[in-house]
Amino acid sequence: MVNPSGDPAYALARSQEEYERLGRQAAFLHGTTARLLRDAGLSAGMRVLDVGSGAGDVALLVAGIVGPRGEVVGVDVDGAALRTAQGRTEALGLSNVRFVEGDLATAEAGDGFDAAVGRLVLMYRADPAASLRTVANRVRSGGVIAFQELDLDPAITARSLPEESLWNDTGRLVTEAFRRAGMQVRMGRQLFGAYVAAGLPEPAMCDEALVGGGPGFGGYAWLAGVVGALEPLMHKLGLDVPGELDTLADRLRDDAVGSGAVVWTPSFVGAHATKP
Ligand SMILES: C[S@@+](CC[C@H](N)C(=O)[O-])C[C@H]1O[C@@H](n2cnc3c(N)ncnc32)[C@H](O)[C@@H]1O
Repeated sequence: MVNPSGDPAYALARSQEEYERLGRQAAFLHGTTARLLRDAGLSAGMRVLDVGSGAGDVALLVAGIVGPRGEVVGVDVDGAALRTAQGRTEALGLSNVRFVEGDLATAEAGDGFDAAVGRLVLMYRADPAASLRTVANRVRSGGVIAFQELDLDPAITARSLPEESLWNDTGRLVTEAFRRAGMQVRMGRQLFGAYVAAGLPEPAMCDEALVGGGPGFGGYAWLAGVVGALEPLMHKLGLDVPGELDTLADRLRDDAVGSGAVVWTPSFVGAHATKP
């Protein structure tokens, strides 16, 4: 499943339901991304490019940082996702956030940005370093390039204590689906080499996972949501979603609560560097 561009076909669903899921995921990841952007030095008044904007969640987070004197331009190949993003922006009365439909390498989004950011987008690219280079070309000298990407290590099977859990089985299934679909499953750790190969300085990096247990942890709904977004792909790949999707979040919670488990998400790895 490869596009004419050489990139693997996008693994996730493209639907209104998926754009809503991205919004819920953004709420779950908010702290991790906000910390990365703060560490990267994003601040009021900056002009920022957000690549792979999806439903606009990172662009809106950035808009809150750069404030009314700043500007945010979001780029995505998915026009329907951008219409959702635009609607959310208008509902918030933000006139300094706009979206451009197109590939992150070629979209007419402008240049000379003070920063470029992206979350969960390089993992879908056949050549992440080449993508980073084209994105960095749109940033001025002294500007910042910050990305946050998943790291799904197929070798790590224990993401819960106790280890035998529906959470672990489901996590392995998600990793296998992404791997078989040709995604960069270890994009998090590959960020370092991708920055260097793109001609950027060695990035400062951080690694965050969300960890929890008990009935109130948001991870059960998050993981079930990811499975839902991958379901059409899993179906094509012959991978079975365990039981009914509608009840997966509840079953993940009941299983974890029943064994007193603590569970944790894969790594969300952040990287940032200043363009020379
Ligand atoms: C998992 S979503 C993440 C959306 C958003 N960054 C967030 O964290 O909520 C990945 C997005 O990257 C977009 N994308 C993938 N390849 C792209 C490309 N070559 N150029 C622009 N956008 C791309 C997809 O269309 C999708 O909207």
